[in-house]
Amino acid sequence: MTREDVLAMKAKHPDANRHQLAALLGCSEQTVQRRLEGNNVRGGKHECATKIVLTGCMVEQWAAEAGLYLYDRRIWHKDPCWANSRWHSTSYKAVDEFEHVYVFWQPGIVEYDRARLADSEWSEWGSRAVWKIRSVRRNDRHEAEFPEELARRVIRLYSPEGGTVLDCFVGSGTTTAVAKALGRQWIGIDASPCCVKNAKLRTDAIVL
Ligand SMILES: C[S@@+](CC[C@H](N)C(=O)[O-])C[C@H]1O[C@@H](n2cnc3c(N)ncnc32)[C@H](O)[C@@H]1O
Repeated sequence: MTREDVLAMKAKHPDANRHQLAALLGCSEQTVQRRLEGNNVRGGKHECATKIVLTGCMVEQWAAEAGLYLYDRRIWHKDPCWANSRWHSTSYKAVDEFEHVYVFWQPGIVEYDRARLADSEWSEWGSRAVWKIRSVRRNDRHEAEFPEELARRVIRLYSPEGGTVLDCFVGSGTTTAVAKALGRQWIGIDASPCCVKNAKLRTDAIVL
């Protein structure tokens, strides 16, 4: 899908929004946005000179404006995306094989509950910066579904039982389904009504 393809479809349907253009083109809304705005922050799959942007400093800035401060960060070490990437053989770039988890805090009193994890869990992952967790291979639920283990670790580490977990980019509902299974309250938001519907179905299906 090229920028020209998206522009041609937009010219035919000038009132269509990104979601409608995606449906017409048979691609994701994110692809439409990337082609229109040239903000392919993943590094560019097909052009070695694609501009990339470090997002961490933006996230830190937005959080600071909301009164939240960086507390910690982890690396999710996932599978290398060899299959969908051509850029590793047409550029000097590394393949995409990790993502960042940023943890922010609101100044105030923080109670540390070491009982949230067993001693073995603290040493295996709770106190470790790099989490090696396999990516989700299928993409039938969502093209970017996260592994449940990633959600499970974040929720267990940073929220108390009965606490509320919010995912404002809920996608297929991985976070909300795991939050419910772990006895948390949950809120999921997504720009796509279809994702909201499917995430709710997936989460409602968790029987406690
Ligand atoms: C990477 S996916 C999330 C995948 C999810 N963690 C899962 O396991 O299925 C990001 C989601 O954010 C949604 N999204 C993108 N921009 C958004 C926005 N501005 N507000 C709300 N949701 C948005 C997309 O529709 C997409 O479903």
